[in-house]
Order: sequence, then structure tokens, then C-alpha cells
Amino acid sequence: MDAANPTRRIILGTAATLPVAVIANGAGFTDQTAASPAAPTLPLLRVNGQQIALALPPWTTLLDALREQTDLSGTKKGCDMGSCGACTVHIDGKRVLACLTLAARCVGKNITTIEGLADGDTLHPMQAAFLAHDGLQCGYCTPGQIMSAVALIKEGHTASDIEIAEWMSGNICRCGAYPNIVAAIRDVAGPAGVGH
Ligand code: FES
Ligand code: FES
Repeated sequence: MDAANPTRRIILGTAATLPVAVIANGAGFTDQTAASPAAPTLPLLRVNGQQIALALPPWTTLLDALREQTDLSGTKKGCDMGSCGACTVHIDGKRVLACLTLAARCVGKNITTIEGLADGDTLHPMQAAFLAHDGLQCGYCTPGQIMSAVALIKEGHTASDIEIAEWMSGNICRCGAYPNIVAAIRDVAGPAGVGH
């Protein structure tokens, strides 16, 4: 696949898919708050560098807050019980499962979703590597895979293909794209990161 001319950007969550409200000033989120007058308003959440205000019951997960109260639907809901990794996002640079994280616990922290990885039209190197190595089929697991993969490299778990696979084992791919996913991560990690 030609990484310079990707055809599946929506799946990979590039900036081109970002809602106008997020890119601009969060005005759309004010509307969401107004739509739920009975729910308490959380202090601002910082998502992909944008401050947003949401009216949410205190038991709302970060995953539901993102998917149902904003247009940031790149973070996927698979199992909704911490078993599949489809909902992986970064909080203060570390990967977490959004389905097991209360939105209220994220106040004051920097939340990054798949939509926040690209720099305008320039894909994050991991997004480009997934395209180059065909690290996806249906693409449903792919946002979570990429968010985990980016964190994995920061964590330094790239000494071998086996280590990469082990530390990516929390991200399930029902299409079985595992070999290509490992190849993409190995590519980004570079020779210094992988002694396979
Ligand atoms: S949806 Fe969160 S781990 Fe499956
Ligand atoms: S690409 Fe289909 S579930 Fe992973």
C-alpha cells in the first residue's frame, strides 16, 4: 500500500476526521452540555489539546464520554470490560483502557485519542507504518492497536518481535493481522529497538 496516499484515513483517525467543534474552539461541546441539563458538569477535560466541558453523570467512563458526548468516535468500544484493547487512549502519555477509566478521574490530565496523533495531514509515523505494512483488515481494532503501539515504543518493549507481541497482547485483533502489526511496530522502533 502507498503510505503517501492512504485510502483508509478515517479508520486511522487522521486530523481530516476531526470534528469541526474540536478543531475550532469546542463550541459544539457547549451544545452537548446544554442537551443534558440534569447532569452535573465536569470541570474541563483536555482532549487532544482542546479544553472541553461535558455534562456527565459521575459514573460515565471516558470511553462513553468520548464516543457519546463528543464526535471523537475513533476510540472504539469492543468488549467494554477491559479485555480487548479497542478503547486504548493515552492519559499523560501512558496507555490506558478508556472503558475502565472514569471520565471524572481524567480532569486535569492530558487525554490523547487516535484523532490527536496526526499533525494536520501528516500521519504519525506509527499510523504510516500500519498503512505501509497493511497492519489492518476491518480496522476496528486499529485505533487501539496504534495507541498501544506508540506507547509501547516509549515503554521500550521492542527488544524482539516476541517482546513486541507480548506487550501488545492486550490488543485483540479478530482479523488476525498480528504479523503485520508487529512488522509496523518493528519498522518504527528501528534496528536499535529490535534485536530480532
Ligand atoms: S472496549 Fe475497553 S478493553 Fe475492550
Ligand atoms: S483489523 Fe479487524 S479486528 Fe483487527
